[in-house]
Amino acid sequence: MPREHAAPPPRTPSFHLDAIGAERSTSDDDPMAVLVAVLDLQAALPGIQRMRRWGHEALAVGPGERALDVGSGTGSEVVEFAARVGERGDAVGVDPNPAMLAIARERVAAAETPGRFVEGDAYRLPFDDDSFDAVRCERVYQHLDDPAAATAEIARVLRPGGRALLIDSDWQTAILHPGNPEVVGRMTAAMLAATPNAVSGRLLRGLLVAAGFAIDDIGSEAVIWDPVTVRPMFEQLGKSALSGGVITEQERDELVADIDAGIEIGDYHLAVTMFAALGHLPPR
Ligand SMILES: C[S@@+](CC[C@H](N)C(=O)[O-])C[C@H]1O[C@@H](n2cnc3c(N)ncnc32)[C@H](O)[C@@H]1O
Repeated sequence: MPREHAAPPPRTPSFHLDAIGAERSTSDDDPMAVLVAVLDLQAALPGIQRMRRWGHEALAVGPGERALDVGSGTGSEVVEFAARVGERGDAVGVDPNPAMLAIARERVAAAETPGRFVEGDAYRLPFDDDSFDAVRCERVYQHLDDPAAATAEIARVLRPGGRALLIDSDWQTAILHPGNPEVVGRMTAAMLAATPNAVSGRLLRGLLVAAGFAIDDIGSEAVIWDPVTVRPMFEQLGKSALSGGVITEQERDELVADIDAGIEIGDYHLAVTMFAALGHLPPR
């Protein structure tokens, strides 16, 4: 079992498009409840489910292996790892957010699987060198200022020949319809500028190569939102853009009216493409 080092202080995740859509799901203002509700909503989207299924098949974690999920969120993929590695293996999630870790631990216990969680940061993973056979990291890199440093850490904790799977959105592929394209374009540009690594999806392959991995596969999946998430997403985008002076109140009101009309007749489309890169380290 890998030895754990002391965790550094947690970083506060920045606001990002993944956090939009929670208003429908919670009745209070607890930011943690909002984030968990959003992650659960997203986990139910067919695009995310397909990407995860493909990713687990591609990473092919097997009985007795040691597998790590970096930025493990609610812990759902550690539950999947635990089922794959069995009693002789080790399924571990690492996340800097203690409240998120508490939820993940509750869920793993409820699932009666032996997965475990450790507080830590992608920049300084609290594990020895050569601790894992496989590492996955999903929708975390978009929050990182230095994804190359995080990738070097993943390479460090993997054994020679170990596999890594990186999954992330590329927000420049976002489609928002209906609405005045010029106003939508201004809002999208502002949102991209506020995200530390907004085009993360297209960078994953290069990051693995630069960290010494050989590439085995590349995957992609469009995540398409449904009406439950479309409406609050536009509302939130409009609110942020208005307060940032990116659009006027009139433009915001027109946009929301366009969206409502689109939802009413079934003419709406809001999507972003997620990309994945799978690689392995050379054997020693
Ligand atoms: C959008 S959520 C994704 C969670 C999960 N990987 C999933 O796909 O459902 C981003 C996660 O990254 C974690 N995170 C943020 N900054 C991090 C960092 N520097 N190192 C590791 N995890 C981080 C957050 O606490 C959160 O759990």
